[in-house]
Amino acid sequence: MKILLLGKNGQVGWELQRSLAVLGELTALDFDSTGLSADFSRPESLAATVQAVRPDVIVNAAAHTAVDKAESEPELARTLNATAPAVLAREAAALGAWLVHYSTDYVFDGSGAAPRTEDAPTGPLSVYGRTKLEGEEAIRASGCRHLILRTSWVYAARGGNFAKTMLRLAAERDRLTVIDDQIGAPTGADLLADITAHALRTLQQRPELAGTYHAVASGETSWYGYARFVIEWARAHGQAIKVEALAIEPVQTTAFPTPAQRPLNSRLDTRKVQAAFGLRQPAWQHGVERLLAEICGA
Ligand SMILES: NC(=O)c1ccc[n+]([C@@H]2O[C@H](COP(=O)([O-])OP(=O)(O)OC[C@H]3O[C@@H](n4cnc5c(N)ncnc54)[C@H](OP(=O)(O)O)[C@@H]3O)[C@@H](O)[C@H]2O)c1
Repeated sequence: MKILLLGKNGQVGWELQRSLAVLGELTALDFDSTGLSADFSRPESLAATVQAVRPDVIVNAAAHTAVDKAESEPELARTLNATAPAVLAREAAALGAWLVHYSTDYVFDGSGAAPRTEDAPTGPLSVYGRTKLEGEEAIRASGCRHLILRTSWVYAARGGNFAKTMLRLAAERDRLTVIDDQIGAPTGADLLADITAHALRTLQQRPELAGTYHAVASGETSWYGYARFVIEWARAHGQAIKVEALAIEPVQTTAFPTPAQRPLNSRLDTRKVQAAFGLRQPAWQHGVERLLAEICGA
């Protein structure tokens, strides 16, 4: 199997370099790779790349993921999140290749408290959410064989992440305030990459499973619950933590005004991906503990 991976240096892209390598011949590109263009701000240049590589599978891990910044640069967000994936989908359809793409819980409006299924009505609240939804819709409309994985609250050991920020603040400050009314599931980029590789193998035998799926770790928490988990784990493992547990204060989203509105309910129902691909989603704490052990050297 020939695989073209785009966005290889992002959180998910980095882990995909590992998980896809065992499936076949992997060409992995970032937007500043030399030779072949993988610059999503020039969508039509991606067509030439696909035509040159002639992959069996295109995996798109590139995106405009700066949710607040997208509010002030909607055209760039649309180009990266919708126009470029549409070009990839068109090229995949022409080649008969698979397209794997990632989307987000931000395609929903976050109302209520129930986990969303894949066919629940969408209603994005932000430019990021709207452009990601447009990207999904373009792929579904293209007729290409595709796998769209909607995920949430992605973290990776490489680069910055919420856990690292909380550990730094907890070591420096006496008090912390953290949002407690957005609920979701922290999901490791490594888990997503492994689900992708497993699903791709299954799809070679069972192409009828193509479609849109929710892929997140199991369980749920708030950013406050996530922060408490990270800080108490670090304290129990001998890390320098200044803030006392009682000095970590839960607050509402309105306490931290941001340019982009975020959904309060980010719960995604994962029964479809589990049933289709014979997977079991591990608890979110499982991946976060591994992350903490890695970044704390414990
Ligand atoms: N992060 C989350 O919490 C989250 C939640 C739900 C869904 N998702 C989705 O999951 C997927 C992977 O996200 P991630 O967390 O891995 O994001 P990420 O770490 O921000 O990776 C995105 C990648 O796209 C690259 N990129 C930016 N502009 C580009 C351009 N013009 N051309 C080509 N590449 C460009 C980035 O490069 P630079 O870093 O050099 O800019 C980065 O390597 C995305 O589809 C995202 O929408 C993410």
